[in-house]
Amino acid sequence: MKAVYFLFCLALAYHCTANIVRHQFQPRLDKFLIQPPGPGYEEPEQRQSESTSQSQESEESKESKKKRSYDNVAYLSENRNWFSPWFSVYKEVEKTPYGDVIDWQGIQYAAGPKSPVKNVKEIENIFNDAYKTLEHLSEEEKRMIHAAFGPEDVAQAPSVRANATELLRSNQYEVEEHVVKTNDGYFLTVFRIPPKEQEPLSSEEIKRPVALLMHGIVGSADDWLLLGPKMSLAYMLADLGCDVWLGNTRGNKYARRHASKHESNPDFWQYSIDEIATNDVPAMTDYILKTSGKEKLFYVGHSQGSTAFFAFMAALPHYKEKVAMMFALSPMVYMKNVRSPFFKMISPTSAFYESLHEQLGNGEFKIGKDLLATVGGNMCQKEVGCRHICSNLNFVITGADTTGIEFAMLPSIVSHLPAGASTRSIRHIGQGVASHEFRKYDYGSNVNSMIYGQSEPPKYNMANVEVPVALYYSEEDWLAHPKDVERLQKELPNVIDTYKVPEKHFSHMEFQFSEKAPELIYKRLILLLGKQYREINNIN
Ligand SMILES: *[C@@H]1O[C@H](CO)[C@@H](O)[C@H](O)[C@H]1NC(C)=O
Repeated sequence: MKAVYFLFCLALAYHCTANIVRHQFQPRLDKFLIQPPGPGYEEPEQRQSESTSQSQESEESKESKKKRSYDNVAYLSENRNWFSPWFSVYKEVEKTPYGDVIDWQGIQYAAGPKSPVKNVKEIENIFNDAYKTLEHLSEEEKRMIHAAFGPEDVAQAPSVRANATELLRSNQYEVEEHVVKTNDGYFLTVFRIPPKEQEPLSSEEIKRPVALLMHGIVGSADDWLLLGPKMSLAYMLADLGCDVWLGNTRGNKYARRHASKHESNPDFWQYSIDEIATNDVPAMTDYILKTSGKEKLFYVGHSQGSTAFFAFMAALPHYKEKVAMMFALSPMVYMKNVRSPFFKMISPTSAFYESLHEQLGNGEFKIGKDLLATVGGNMCQKEVGCRHICSNLNFVITGADTTGIEFAMLPSIVSHLPAGASTRSIRHIGQGVASHEFRKYDYGSNVNSMIYGQSEPPKYNMANVEVPVALYYSEEDWLAHPKDVERLQKELPNVIDTYKVPEKHFSHMEFQFSEKAPELIYKRLILLLGKQYREINNIN
């Protein structure tokens, strides 16, 4: 009897848990649920792509063919998910089971009564700016990109899985790993390339500059190393005798420990750019100055690394004593003119906002394949034609202009990025798209009133940023639009260099990964850094 009772309890417990689990972890999509096609549905496109691959088979070996076939059509039909909330795909569908299809630039979106998209105008609003800045490649070019980048390349490249220490060691650079604890309990790994002892130096020159390099959105310290010696900024600065530190912000792969919160706990992820700016960046700054025995450091921030810096200086202006100068590569502060479809969709004024909010949840920023296709992967796929690139979050949200990046770099980039971030920090940027302002995180008016004492989040005052600033940006950056950078420049009191990269196409990621970056950007940065350094230390 006892045993029966026990089994009954067990079954009951199982049933309840299963329900809770289901309830919690199944995305609640009922609102936008799109019905799958009936049982007899045929998939003509998939067939077609299979037969195309077969016809090419005679020329190449079977094995490499299978991996490298130009399979963009097959990719979409294979991975199509009829349950995705805003099913979107550019395949020939005459009539879908769930309503109408909007066709825009060959990309098709569901527009049924349950879809947030009602007309082509809404699609255009989201995708058009990004679309216009993409280089529109020929089919031949697309084929070349895809052929140059098979999955086996990702697996084989030696630098692919290496961490920053391994990358530096493999190039015969010394490296130290430091752990910095923030005042709210996060442990951040910071990499240091200690200054090289070269020829005998004059007593003045021994006072070497210290530089802190902060990675961009969903990035890590690795990003400053991937172009390799003589090319990546970190190596170039180290070669010149700089004491180089590569920072990491909470939540990326080098900063996933906390004194009391485990990364699997959603609490770990409750931070926005505010916490990165007022906890992580000052903690790293203090630690670096204490360890190196210097008074000031040079800060270089790419993308979110610059966002965090400007918020840091606005919130804690007394830190100006500790920063010699700031170099902002692709500065993301004002987001009004952002081109990235993803950031437009995640902005609170977008039709997609609510459903995206639900889908992305509240923890680590993770985005599934289907969602990725919807927020820009489809357009990427159509324009770039390579699924290995277009299934990568970074290319999809920051711009998939791959022509400025060497093919050989692609596997390495894709394996190091994304490196992790919180959904809230991503949402914080989306808020800026709607508010047109650079403000603290918006929790909604009730919580704002409790936290900030006002219903709207307070603005970061750029007039507080008194350190000398250099702004390096480009015409077609999806995230840092020239108009937004120019506004920032007007508001900052001490901009000493403003430079728009003289290239027609130069995307957000190219600031770190283009072979042209050393010549176009880093040399200029290094000259100015040297000049400022000599001025501060009265060296002629
Ligand atoms: C990087 O890799 C090396 C060698 O595998 C390992 O000893 C080190 O702990 C790693 N560092 C980090 C921060 O992951």
